[in-house]
Amino acid sequence: MPEFNRARLVELLKQEEQLFHQNHPKSYELYQRARKSLHGGVPMLWMVRWAGSFPIFVKAAKGAHFTDVDRNDYIDFCLGDTGAMTGHSPDATVQAIQEQMQKGITLMLPYEDVIWVGEELQRRFGLPYWQFALTATDANRFALRMARLLTGRPKILVFNYCYHGSVDETLIVLDEEGTSMPRPNNMGPQIDPRLTTKVIEFNDIAALETALSARDVAAVLTEPVMTNIGIIHPEPGYHDALRELTRKYGTHLVIDETHTICTGPGGYTASFGLQPDFLTIGKPIAGGVPVAVYGFTEEISQQFSASLAVDDADVGGIGGTLAGNALAISAMKATLQDVLTRKFYDKSIQLQELFTEGVESVIKEFELPWIVKRLGNRSEYWFRPTPPKNGGEAFAAIDHELDRYMHLFALNRGILMTPFHNMALISPDIYEADVDFHTKVFRESVSTLFGE
Ligand SMILES: Cc1ncc(COP(=O)(O)O)c(C=O)c1O
Repeated sequence: MPEFNRARLVELLKQEEQLFHQNHPKSYELYQRARKSLHGGVPMLWMVRWAGSFPIFVKAAKGAHFTDVDRNDYIDFCLGDTGAMTGHSPDATVQAIQEQMQKGITLMLPYEDVIWVGEELQRRFGLPYWQFALTATDANRFALRMARLLTGRPKILVFNYCYHGSVDETLIVLDEEGTSMPRPNNMGPQIDPRLTTKVIEFNDIAALETALSARDVAAVLTEPVMTNIGIIHPEPGYHDALRELTRKYGTHLVIDETHTICTGPGGYTASFGLQPDFLTIGKPIAGGVPVAVYGFTEEISQQFSASLAVDDADVGGIGGTLAGNALAISAMKATLQDVLTRKFYDKSIQLQELFTEGVESVIKEFELPWIVKRLGNRSEYWFRPTPPKNGGEAFAAIDHELDRYMHLFALNRGILMTPFHNMALISPDIYEADVDFHTKVFRESVSTLFGE
């Protein structure tokens, strides 16, 4: 098995960093200015996690491409970490937004379009009742609140190294001994997550049964395929067991499709016939305009209505003045109607297959102990020879230095990957030539590192 030299990796990283500085003088200048008014020079904390030592500033984005202020062009395989899975500024969404802007942006009252959206969500995901939020984080928070309210149970259960947004109860992991602990860098939690949450490994049916059998868990919150510590597929029979055990112990099953909507128009849920009690989704469903939704069953809807004190409905912890605003609804209607269509998936999945084949061909050529996994139009390569079965195994395979090198090498040659891991998302606006270019650059980064 080929090995690379760690000292060489550090040296290469330095060279890539220099190249990055040379090619981005205007971004650097803007970053220095931004640092005087924005904490860390960025509008949002995690933007400091890009591979370069400062973020590139974007000039304009359209489809699967964007340009920075230094006039560099990029192929975008990050797509706003799924927020722009549709491709940037899809025409139908932009037109709908432009029209709606002239007719009111937010009112706390519905327009007729919202009914079309509710009916479309029913059709796609199979759940009868829907509510709106502004972010997937909120959709998850609200679903968890409803589950706790309806079951009268205090706890939730999540899987090790999941990510469902900045939902307090989910920021918990297992340490190497398998003991739960707050996720490292969990910033100022109002309550220790060990009091609210059970955390177990994905794909571990025995641990699931043990955790649920105490009958104190209101909800299991899970992605149907884990995507936030790389792609981890469920083992055969896992979803059946998950559904069976949650029913057996009276626990609600919340499926978060925010990333797995990459599978098909109704997410993994529709493609694989899952039957969640709640389904949550945000990010790309309005073409990048902030909106999220959560759906639930008839039974939950009835129980919720029965327990709701209407006079206090606005202060019960499920809220958001701008949730369901007219602009977001119009963007969502256009995106669901004209953008995230069957055709969209057919094309982007076919391109993703090409992308994955390209990465695989390089892995094979250099006999690397790496693999690449795919889910719909999303793929992820790993620095380990076999697919991880759970979050703990996936976490152990992370090599931050190697990640940084691969990302920066790609970025310096006009390819943007998702910053937190080696994920590539494909929108249909990507050309086959873009995919081939990625394969070429990926090969070059590997041959440079392994010293061809
Ligand atoms: C599966 C999943 N759910 C929810 C979220 C939260 O989305 P947002 O940050 O838009 O609230 C994320 C964010 O990455 C996610 O990956």
